[in-house]
Amino acid sequence: MPLLQAEEISVTFGGHRALVDVSVDAEEGRITGLIGPNGAGKTTCFNVLSGLQPPQGGRVIFDSQDISAVPAYKRGRLGMARTFQRIEVFGSLTVFENVLVAAEIRHRWSRGEEIDLDAECNDIIDLVGLRKVADQRVDSIPTGLSRLTELARALATKPRVILLDEPSSGLDDDESEAFGDLLLTLAKRGVAILLVEHDIDLVMQVCDRIHVLDFGTIIAVGTPVEIRKDKRVQKAYLGED
Ligand SMILES: Nc1ncnc2c1ncn2[C@@H]1O[C@H](COP(=O)(O)OP(=O)(O)OP(=O)(O)O)[C@@H](O)[C@H]1O
Ligand SMILES: [Mg+2]
Repeated sequence: MPLLQAEEISVTFGGHRALVDVSVDAEEGRITGLIGPNGAGKTTCFNVLSGLQPPQGGRVIFDSQDISAVPAYKRGRLGMARTFQRIEVFGSLTVFENVLVAAEIRHRWSRGEEIDLDAECNDIIDLVGLRKVADQRVDSIPTGLSRLTELARALATKPRVILLDEPSSGLDDDESEAFGDLLLTLAKRGVAILLVEHDIDLVMQVCDRIHVLDFGTIIAVGTPVEIRKDKRVQKAYLGED
């Protein structure tokens, strides 16, 4: 049973059908890819899952509950976190402070629990690989590291599922490799990860399963090997070689 599911969701902007009966899901301890060409509807799908975009049809299921009517801010409390394609961080705060803000909010949700917030945030910063820039303002660090800060902040809410929208763009090769290892570590800890990413090598290396979107519809679901071989996916997105 997947932890998070979109069931046949549809979204229309004016006359444009951005998503048509799209079903995707994410399982605990697994990395699930959501790939497809520009404009295919990946970010729109994330917006529906996270409650920022009401769908015209379909349902969102989390932990066997229909959460379609649950507002975005409450989905965070349930255990859902995300990052944004157009990064959303507090630029005038340091990396550490960005993480601390989220940890403090989560602490308020879990009233009474004794936790050392600083230690928790430092663990996350080390895990994500941000130690060197921990005390720098986020608007002074490279884009790739701002993305990692956004991920670190999301992790501070202790999510059960995390939606990542192009998290590796802006990272160099070494950073991307470390990022792939980080995703595998998070999955091993039981987090469900849904990954939108154009770095196909990364997607193929880390994902257990991949959904492929094209013009608002799912054209394939399968393992990386199956997706690479799929003629429709090659034609729509991967290229034929
Ligand atoms: N708020 C909106 N209003 C109108 N049209 C929108 C809106 N958001 C997205 N669209 C359109 O819906 C389609 C899907 O967009 P979406 O951003 O979900 O694609 P995507 O797969 O994330 O693309 P990319 O890989 O470029 O990020 C596109 O045609 C886009 O122009
Ligand atoms: Mg997008």
